[in-house]
Amino acid sequence: MGNIVRVFTHQTYVGVIKPLLFTQSPDVVHSKAVELGSKVGKHRPLRQLASLSWAYKNPRLSQTIHGLEYDNPVGLSAGFDKNARLIPIMQAIGFGHITVGSITSKVCEGNPKPWFHRIPEQKAIVVHVGLANTGREAIAASLRDAKGSQSKARVPVTISVARTNSQETSTDKEGIDDYVQTLKTLRLYADNFEINISCPNTYGGEPFTTPARLDALLGAIDALNLMQPVYIKMPSDVPWRKYCSLLDVIIRHSVQGVTVSNLRKNRQGIAVSSSVKGGISGLPTQAASDLFIAKTYQKYGDKLTIIGVGGIFTAEDAYRKIRLGASLVDLLTGLIYEGPSLVGSINRGLVKLLDRDGFDSIEDAIGIDAHKV
Ligand SMILES: Cc1cc2nc3c(=O)[nH]c(=O)nc-3n(C[C@H](O)[C@H](O)[C@H](O)COP(=O)(O)O)c2cc1C
Repeated sequence: MGNIVRVFTHQTYVGVIKPLLFTQSPDVVHSKAVELGSKVGKHRPLRQLASLSWAYKNPRLSQTIHGLEYDNPVGLSAGFDKNARLIPIMQAIGFGHITVGSITSKVCEGNPKPWFHRIPEQKAIVVHVGLANTGREAIAASLRDAKGSQSKARVPVTISVARTNSQETSTDKEGIDDYVQTLKTLRLYADNFEINISCPNTYGGEPFTTPARLDALLGAIDALNLMQPVYIKMPSDVPWRKYCSLLDVIIRHSVQGVTVSNLRKNRQGIAVSSSVKGGISGLPTQAASDLFIAKTYQKYGDKLTIIGVGGIFTAEDAYRKIRLGASLVDLLTGLIYEGPSLVGSINRGLVKLLDRDGFDSIEDAIGIDAHKV
């Protein structure tokens, strides 16, 4: 019966719901999805129904990483739940961890719309949001309310923190202060922090993707003595030499891991007009993400935990990143193209792949292919 429900829901999404949704603009669909997901997540019976339909559990997928228990390795990547309204429903559909944000110190309206453009033939989205979010104070209030409710998170919640996208925070000093204020306000509510240094769509570009500036930012974050693990969200399409110079800085600070990687800026081979602004997600980010996971693991696999992100649409995609060195994987575009049954089907598929390769647990597969790259 469970299988019938799962197959039905995936086919219903891809065959019926997605074509209907895709007749509307992606901006409209995203805001309706957040409203609906937030409402559904407040009702226990609906959460249970979502869980029964889609979530998949198996102890072979669980891990403890930096003191936090993860039921499975598949997480929601930053950018879908910008204002931390979807934690209960994302948990119900089976994500093993959830990233909210990116959140900034000040309220941020983002870039003028449209924010999103679909490229279905390439399973990609062009994203030009510019870090819209309701700001650290409002988000702290909603996380405080959620903590007391029966739908509170039981999976690790990562708060992605970025610099406010405005002219006032464009100097390095103001930018660093902006991150620090957000971290201070949200330190009671995060299981992990992810520092987004690589949003391609912000005023003044990506100031903290040079070694000296990143060093200054991480020095200020060290001084906060945060209790929770800190991950750095890495840029996508920089040369390995530059990428590695950032890793060399990161390992000198109180940072536990890296999230590999953010949106892609390079438009080569992407079927979209130059008038459509923004960074690219989805399948076109997959190869670079896989490569940098392996190279990061080869160089610093003993010092940094890797979260692999970029173009995950199947269990094979997730497993490949794990075998290349990722302990956890995150996805976002896959959820949009494949629907909510994707999370459970990836986890179910991962167990089959462990069986195929003779591994007892997901931990056994981490990094075993890193040297092949
Ligand atoms: C709609 C959308 C919004 C995003 N917003 C953010 C963001 O606010 N912060 C961030 O670090 N990454 C953001 N990203 C990047 C994703 O977290 C992820 O790194 C990237 O999309 C590659 O993963 P995917 O192919 O599974 O989407 C966003 C991506 C999308 C598609």
